Amino acid sequence: MTRTLMTSLTIILLTGNSWAENILFPGPIYGGKGEQVQFNTFTSPMQFQTIVWNFGNLNIITSDRSGSETVGSEYKGRVSLNKTSGALTLQSLRLNDTGGYAVILTPADGTQTLQGKTVLQVFVPVTDVNIKGPNSTLVEGKSSANLNCDGTGTIITTQWIKDGQHLSESDSITFSADNRSMLINPVSRSDIGEYVCVHSNPISSEMANYSITVLYGPDVKILGAEILEEGSDILLYCSVSSVPLATLTWTVKDVDAGNSALYITESSNTDHSGIYTCTASNNITGLTTSAQHTVTVRGK
Ligand SMILES: *[C@@H]1O[C@H](CO)[C@@H](O)[C@H](O)[C@H]1NC(C)=O
Ligand SMILES: *[C@@H]1O[C@H](CO)[C@@H](O)[C@H](O)[C@H]1NC(C)=O
Ligand SMILES: *[C@@H]1O[C@H](CO)[C@@H](O)[C@H](O)[C@H]1NC(C)=O
Ligand SMILES: *[C@@H]1O[C@H](CO)[C@@H](O)[C@H](O)[C@H]1NC(C)=O
Ligand SMILES: *[C@@H]1O[C@H](CO)[C@@H](O)[C@H](O)[C@H]1NC(C)=O
Ligand SMILES: *[C@@H]1O[C@H](CO)[C@@H](O)[C@H](O)[C@H]1NC(C)=O
Repeated sequence: MTRTLMTSLTIILLTGNSWAENILFPGPIYGGKGEQVQFNTFTSPMQFQTIVWNFGNLNIITSDRSGSETVGSEYKGRVSLNKTSGALTLQSLRLNDTGGYAVILTPADGTQTLQGKTVLQVFVPVTDVNIKGPNSTLVEGKSSANLNCDGTGTIITTQWIKDGQHLSESDSITFSADNRSMLINPVSRSDIGEYVCVHSNPISSEMANYSITVLYGPDVKILGAEILEEGSDILLYCSVSSVPLATLTWTVKDVDAGNSALYITESSNTDHSGIYTCTASNNITGLTTSAQHTVTVRGK
């Protein structure tokens, strides 16, 4: 297409007086369907004997010095010409307006003919972008999540962003060939966050967001001293990382010893030596995890 256009232009140029500079931005120029585009010329204002605009082999508009205009049937009511610059405005753009455009300006003062060519690409603006994601709860290590980025219009590229960072493929993340869907398999707590997908083409882009929550845990860890002097306080903290929150239980020497994260025994004695266990349960992930801590109380 472009090659054919260039060949025919070369023929025009070779059969004309001599090589002339392109008086149009060579493009591509981008336009939105239904919108308008202006093809400006790099000339100083002057009077023209004729102005001829062509789309491929089709005449768009021809204007002569008397001011009379001949407009091609495809272009009635949607073109306007600037008689002093030769610039063309094309309105109500259609997808099939995509292609090569050429202009020939013949100055009224008899100076050299001016020629220009450019390429227009028309796109349908991107709209209605939204993400469809999993509708069930996601459990770390067990579930997978498929996110689909839908949208209408001419979608040329799709990108995914998580918490402000561009996402790329990894051991657990794969994209479809067109990037419109993304699979996380399996999900883990590091996948929690705000996902954004962006559909774009040269004239527009639109994004949508989706937040992913992953249930995980419990992970249990006990913080506190292991060796104490008789008479000092035993202070242990059961640190639980879990979504949703886990219920926890302390077991000291096989006896239940409360459900608060902080376990305290004041003025310990050597009988308090032993194994302290914190057990946490997440009733959604169905997991129960324990941690043990050995305390030794030394006699004086
Ligand atoms: C035609 O183009 C000239 C030069 O760019 C500009 O000064 C003038 O305002 C334009 N006329 C119209 C009607 O747009
Ligand atoms: C371009 O598309 C319009 C409809 O959008 C149609 O009416 C017209 O005939 C088409 N032109 C060509 C050259 O195919
Ligand atoms: C999620 O929603 C889709 C369509 O709304 C439905 O077909 C599918 O069965 C749902 N999946 C679950 C796990 O609920
Ligand atoms: C898909 O995404 C990758 C990485 O973000 C990007 O390099 C590539 O250009 C994208 N491809 C399409 C078709 O959007
Ligand atoms: C995500 O979308 C919601 C609802 O449209 C909006 O309130 C929120 O600010 C968006 N977040 C981001 C990071 O764009
Ligand atoms: C999980 O435990 C919480 C209290 O920790 C309770 O409110 C909830 O009903 C339980 N859910 C299920 C499914 O057992």
